[in-house]
Amino acid sequence: MSGSTVLIVDDEQSLARSAKAFLADHGYEAEVAVTGEQALDLLATLQPDVVFADVRLPGMSGLDLLRRIRAFDPVIPVIMLTAYGSIEGAVEAVKLGAFDYVKKPVDLEELKLLADRARETRLLKQELSYYRRRATTDVGFEGLVGESRAVQAVLERARQIAALDETPPVLLTGETGTGKGLLARAIHAAGARATKPFIEVNCTALPATLMEAELFGHERGAFTDAKESKPGLVEAAEGGFLFLDEIGDVDLAVQGKLLRVIEERAVRRVGSVRERRVDVRIMAATNRDLERAVGEERFRKDLYFRLAVIVLDVPPLRERGDDVLLLTEHFLRAFNAKYGKVVRELSAAARDLLLSYPWPGNVRELSHVIERAVLWSRGPTLDVEHLSLTRPVGGTDHGDAAKPVDTATLPQREKTMIEQALREAGGNQTKAAQRLGISRDTLRYRLKKFGL
Ligand SMILES: Nc1ncnc2c1ncn2[C@@H]1O[C@H](COP(=O)(O)OP(=O)(O)OP(=O)(O)O)[C@@H](O)[C@H]1O
Ligand SMILES: [Mg+2]
Repeated sequence: MSGSTVLIVDDEQSLARSAKAFLADHGYEAEVAVTGEQALDLLATLQPDVVFADVRLPGMSGLDLLRRIRAFDPVIPVIMLTAYGSIEGAVEAVKLGAFDYVKKPVDLEELKLLADRARETRLLKQELSYYRRRATTDVGFEGLVGESRAVQAVLERARQIAALDETPPVLLTGETGTGKGLLARAIHAAGARATKPFIEVNCTALPATLMEAELFGHERGAFTDAKESKPGLVEAAEGGFLFLDEIGDVDLAVQGKLLRVIEERAVRRVGSVRERRVDVRIMAATNRDLERAVGEERFRKDLYFRLAVIVLDVPPLRERGDDVLLLTEHFLRAFNAKYGKVVRELSAAARDLLLSYPWPGNVRELSHVIERAVLWSRGPTLDVEHLSLTRPVGGTDHGDAAKPVDTATLPQREKTMIEQALREAGGNQTKAAQRLGISRDTLRYRLKKFGL
């Protein structure tokens, strides 16, 4: 619960003081206000995550206070404290949007549990709009197929990392489609933080200012649309992992703030003067040469060094020997089940082809190739004709794809470019769209139009 702030509004000093001390012992920063008016004054500077308010207050009533808090920020959870005889007020308060109520004399343990729950509910509401994966949907390391030395070496280190609760950030490097995302989720799922959040942020997807607000949250009024304050993804990852995918695409301004999160273990919401402590482990992934980006001053050197303390370099598929065949079997099983097919074996020629193909899109490309092959198959044997490999075996980048373009009509040219971009992006539509300089919707429309 570190970094969460609670505001207690009660004129009963002894209760307020003991509640404050108890919550502080449990990692909350707690403040006390004795009147509703004072509470409202504190609200803006304190930005509490949870408010406890007595129904009966001198001056402004608890219910009025609740209304005013609601008007100020519709999402701060407010928990009412009720003495014998004011229970109706509490029920009324819940109808007005209070999170819950507690009866006096207050059980401090109950108070703390409610604060935890209120805070979690709030974070959850925020988190649900994002990609949150839990241990139940993760398979851990069992889902990672590969027996080659190259893969086992990486898995060995990944297991060690997963076993530790505290490590410096982990940087996953490797070509597109090698399984960096899968490995990050496995590290989360195999460790002590498995039941805590795994928040994945695709750093490519957002422009800098939005990215900043998403990551670090913002206070009400921080910018025109900020009608209420909102914790960012860093706070949402509390206790768990923040996975920064495509870290190389993060804007320089945001890079500096990320460094602070790593070094100070604190975030400051946009428009806030207050730092909030966070307990979050950080993993980052990139398929680009970060060192070169540092040389070109597109990536902060200090952040790079901070991230590069532990590097897991995921090898390309072409360096994994027979793993190609193991993965092929793995994908055959999966797609047979998905499409109700019975492809069980590989012809010798298909096997040779799979082993000699350079796999520029790595495991992702292989899975797509096998998916198509299973879809088109008629019998139990998978043969070369089912494998629609797009690059000549042993071939390097580019090459033939550009040649027929010269004489092609515009739509043909477009189609070729789209196919190529998709291939180079390992089938990832977002990335392909970026390469082409068009929006993802435009790409989807074209894909449909060309029947791709
Ligand atoms: N060792 C593996 N065993 C089984 N499936 C794998 C393995 N490695 C990758 N995959 C699968 O291949 C696909 C691509 O993996 P993933 O998205 O993790 O790659 P990535 O390295 O993050 O790629 P990018 O850099 O493009 O984001 C996913 O569907 C993933 O489940
Ligand atoms: Mg990825």
